[in-house]
Amino acid sequence: MKGLRLFVILTLLGAPLVVGLLFTYEIIKVDWISMMENQPSYRPMEDPLPVPEDSVPYMAAYVKYVGVPENPVPADEVSLQRGKVLYDIHCAVCHGPQGQGDGVMADYGLQPANLVTSALDDRGMFVFISNGTPNMPPMRESLTIRDRWDVINYIRSLQAQAGQ
Ligand code: HEC
Repeated sequence: MKGLRLFVILTLLGAPLVVGLLFTYEIIKVDWISMMENQPSYRPMEDPLPVPEDSVPYMAAYVKYVGVPENPVPADEVSLQRGKVLYDIHCAVCHGPQGQGDGVMADYGLQPANLVTSALDDRGMFVFISNGTPNMPPMRESLTIRDRWDVINYIRSLQAQAGQ
């Protein structure tokens, strides 16, 4: 008798838990009505929404399965100025003030690449800057997406100055 009572009590207490878990792990899936549904988002396996014209990706560097976007930041005066400031802070110590690979750190046995003669395109540079190399720290946490494109635009202007 006692055992049965315990069983009933445990079942009564446990049932809501089990039912809760069924919903939590979506074994039973109910399309609850929520305001979140009323928005133009997309579900897994659906095509992403078209990107609004002239928008600049700011925080999303990689679009999954699409890769690095083309450089979306025009090399205007603002971009080049930002690029120069950021380059002087983050890159010049190794790559040198003019990008020739002759920064201060070159005196300590490091061999920073000469960015002026680099054959990388914008997308390639973006990956290098974001991920770093064995001897170069990844910059994805120090530089926003926009920052990195600005630095790349600035490096292009250094190349142009050097007659590349
Ligand atoms: C601590 C030193 C250091 C800093 C800081 C640094 N780099 Fe580098 N970078 C290197 C070294 C060294 C290499 C050569 C690859 C290697 O040895 O790992 C390199 C390679 C590169 C390359 C590849 C060039 C090629 O053609 O292969 C790019 C592009 C580059 N760096 C851009 C940058 C930019 C832009 C910054 C600033 C945001 C920066 N680096 C900051 C040390 C540095």
